[in-house]
Amino acid sequence: MNDLRVLTNTAVATENDKITAVGPQSDLERSHPTAARIDCARGVLTPGLIDSHTHGIFGKPRFEEQELRASGLGYMEIARQGGGIHSSVRDLRSRSEDELFALALPRIKRLAAHGTTTVELKSGYGLTLDDELKSLRVIQRLQAALPIRIVPTFLGAHEIPLEYRAKSSQRAEYIALLTDEMIPRVAQEKLATFVDIFCEPGVYTLDETRKILGAARTHGLALKLHADELEPSGAAELAAELGATSADHLAAISEPGIRALAASQTVATLLPGTMLFLGKTRQAPARDLIAAGAAIALATDFNPGTSPTVNFPLMLTLAVSQLHLSVAEAMLGATTNGAAALGLAAETGQLSPGFSADLALFDIGDIRELPYWYGDHRCSRSWARGKACHG
Ligand code: NIG
Ligand code: FE
Repeated sequence: MNDLRVLTNTAVATENDKITAVGPQSDLERSHPTAARIDCARGVLTPGLIDSHTHGIFGKPRFEEQELRASGLGYMEIARQGGGIHSSVRDLRSRSEDELFALALPRIKRLAAHGTTTVELKSGYGLTLDDELKSLRVIQRLQAALPIRIVPTFLGAHEIPLEYRAKSSQRAEYIALLTDEMIPRVAQEKLATFVDIFCEPGVYTLDETRKILGAARTHGLALKLHADELEPSGAAELAAELGATSADHLAAISEPGIRALAASQTVATLLPGTMLFLGKTRQAPARDLIAAGAAIALATDFNPGTSPTVNFPLMLTLAVSQLHLSVAEAMLGATTNGAAALGLAAETGQLSPGFSADLALFDIGDIRELPYWYGDHRCSRSWARGKACHG
């Protein structure tokens, strides 16, 4: 996949939030004289970027952990000492829904300002029924308040909360709370499209993942997994076996894991910013995944602990420089495959008639400049469902 069709002086005609035609502005003026039109004479127009993996609902940032890691403490070690996810959980529980909404709103606007027009948002820093529902309701309010398309995911299985760790029997109690109370309630209130889980040695085991995602499926929810992020455990294979929509992270995926994903419909979502920010030299084996036939999506993993970035184009830089993708492969990962990772491949991610009018316009002259000017801000305007998201 190495050719990109690059359009210049383009306009997009829209009707009812959908693209009806894409082409040179002068042609569209003639062929669609009365249609609503978005003119993009200057710059490079792309499908709106699709960030299919974020943890955007949190309270305080966790900048103090940067220096702990720099001094040699590992991510899991910080978590074992009550930091990491647990510190975000303590903080989120202390905040009201209104407060969390006020904190999330400008963060999501900043994501949109970089060209993202669809974002997946996970809960997962509550870990009680009420605090998880509170997080998902914040996502629902963001959907109503912002033009950007938002896909909600329930991540009650982000960790085993600290209060369930005194006795070994309590672990099963929390898992029962997830399967018997939280997931049914989330499904009943239609608060999430996906259920996700941190399936990783030291967090949730494969058997527990099977149980929790089994309950999700029973209640009609689609599946995602944080899989093989730090150690290979068979999580990618399980994602493929369960028919998960995506398996995410995969920096430590095994050979059998690669083969399993390639043989399945499960999208391999890679998050190169996370490994960079954690100071790891290892990245997911993107070339091996592509060679085997897996579909690769890219995402920011925006979260307060391991990837506090809202800059999707920076992920394109990392995809090229660290994952060794071509610019065309990276763009595919940010658009069509990102949409597939959210079950939205027929709706968004392409500049074609019938697709949602989700567009991003960048102040560059060649698409290859988007990953090139790394860390820059080049998005001048963006639209979701034909409505301005930015600019
Ligand atoms: O995707 N791996 C688990 N969850 C997040 C990190 C969350 C956190 O540290 O707050 C991730 O990297
Ligand atoms: Fe994540």
